[in-house]
Amino acid sequence: MSRTIAHKKQRSKRTNKLQRTAPNLAPALKFSVKVGSFLPPTPVADAALFPIYAGGGKKTKLPSSVEQVMKRFPKSGPFVGEPKTLQFIRFWDQQSENLLLMGLGEASALTVEKLRQSAALAYARCRAEKLDRLVVWVDAQGLSLDEWTRGFAEGLAMSAYRFNKHKSQATRAKDAEYTGPSEVVFVCHEKVSKAAVEKQLVRATQVAEALRITKDWSNEPSNVGTPTYFAGEAQRLAKKYGLKCRVLDERACARENMALYLSVGRGSDRENRFVVLEYIPRDLSGKSKTIALVGKGVTFDTGGISIKPALSMEDMKHDMTGAATMMGAIALASMWKAPNRVVAYLAFTENMPSGTATNPGDIVTARSGKTVEIINTDAEGRLVLADALDYAQDGKPDVLIDAATLTGAVGIALGKQCCAVMGNNQELIETLKDLGDKNHERMWELPLFDEYLDDIRSEYADLRNVGPNGLGGTIRAAVFLKQFIRPKTVWAHLDIAYTAYDVGHLPYNPKKGATGAHVRTLAQLALEY
Ligand code: BES
Ligand code: ZN
Ligand code: ZN
Repeated sequence: MSRTIAHKKQRSKRTNKLQRTAPNLAPALKFSVKVGSFLPPTPVADAALFPIYAGGGKKTKLPSSVEQVMKRFPKSGPFVGEPKTLQFIRFWDQQSENLLLMGLGEASALTVEKLRQSAALAYARCRAEKLDRLVVWVDAQGLSLDEWTRGFAEGLAMSAYRFNKHKSQATRAKDAEYTGPSEVVFVCHEKVSKAAVEKQLVRATQVAEALRITKDWSNEPSNVGTPTYFAGEAQRLAKKYGLKCRVLDERACARENMALYLSVGRGSDRENRFVVLEYIPRDLSGKSKTIALVGKGVTFDTGGISIKPALSMEDMKHDMTGAATMMGAIALASMWKAPNRVVAYLAFTENMPSGTATNPGDIVTARSGKTVEIINTDAEGRLVLADALDYAQDGKPDVLIDAATLTGAVGIALGKQCCAVMGNNQELIETLKDLGDKNHERMWELPLFDEYLDDIRSEYADLRNVGPNGLGGTIRAAVFLKQFIRPKTVWAHLDIAYTAYDVGHLPYNPKKGATGAHVRTLAQLALEY
């Protein structure tokens, strides 16, 4: 083992240190609240945004000046507030604010998610029209004021994300002239509590900040986003969010007998890094639970010796999104001052073919003592997680959750509308599904019947890492993980391979790239469990 490490250390000097990086250029969206009348005598914003409910909603509270304006535009037809429709009206005389009417459909059918999506469409329109300051008329019909402001602010804040740090100075300078709206004032009626609205706006800003971490990490190409890079970033973020942080290098992982995890990185010149982060609530009470979050952090998955075909292989830079999701979730739990303790375990490694790589048929002993015949080196995520899950259980958590871009099969089974959830405790699964629904980060349960285990028994070792054919791939991977879960552990596994990136049908997500999905749900679990 130590000879491999020395060999690697020598070779790793050759890895890319030339890539120059700059921070992302994304507009920082500032929210504020104003209680009182809407339109001052002179325009203070580039546009005033009004929610319009189909059927008029409750007696519509539009200022009369807006009503008049709406009547003055017969050519555009009556704007009846159908969901996901927008009407932008520009006043070239600069005498009044431009108007953006936002259709929300029937008030009784409005949901937080519909509002998030409508806000995202409105954001895109403001961007297209190069508007900077917006005022929004808060007319919370169909939802509570809290839900309305949070949903709307989340939709805007999530939409503001850009990943452009790798564009050249010249390209970035062009973008920098206008990056998107920068300020949004929420205008509320007199009777509304300003503090209550502000609280929701702060919460939405924190969500966007946590998602930015997850998305930045996931989008990072593998020549920059190496295991050592993410370990360094984790240490930096730990300081920022008041987390404890420990990094295990390959020697430390070897001392911990994590041979299965190390077997994945054997082919790479880049060394593994195993990161442990801990959030301790300020008032750690007897009631506080410990939630352990384990993330797959494969910084690039070539498949190893069982190499993948070239088509779309570049997407495998996202194969560390499980780890990125857990980093975002623990940061958000800390920002929200969750009452439960959270420990995140991020297992970084790179899956490469080379002369030192694991070969198909190799047998490796897991940290738990079980032996595994590695039939297919592309089924590497479960090897990484098996040791990480075993290590995490030494901390005796009350709940153990892992997230991983684990199988292509989950896309065949469920598409991009939800991730798969599997586990050994129905209550935890129901809780996750429920919180997932609330955040529109939906989860669907797949079964882990005992008989699936027969598919992954090996001739020569305790387990093989794949079944004899391509059937039930997502379930078999989870059943493999289950073999490393101790009897008393309450555990759930999220296969996020198809919700982690390229989910452009949701308007608050970028067309391409990371989504940050499941961060909100996991942080809410830390808040409410
Ligand atoms: N990282 C992949 C899973 C994946 C595939 C994520 C597509 C995102 C999009 C994983 O390591 C993998 O390669 N799994 C194999 C397992 C198979 C060899 C049993 C797969 O799903 O094809
Ligand atoms: Zn793989
Ligand atoms: Zn993988």
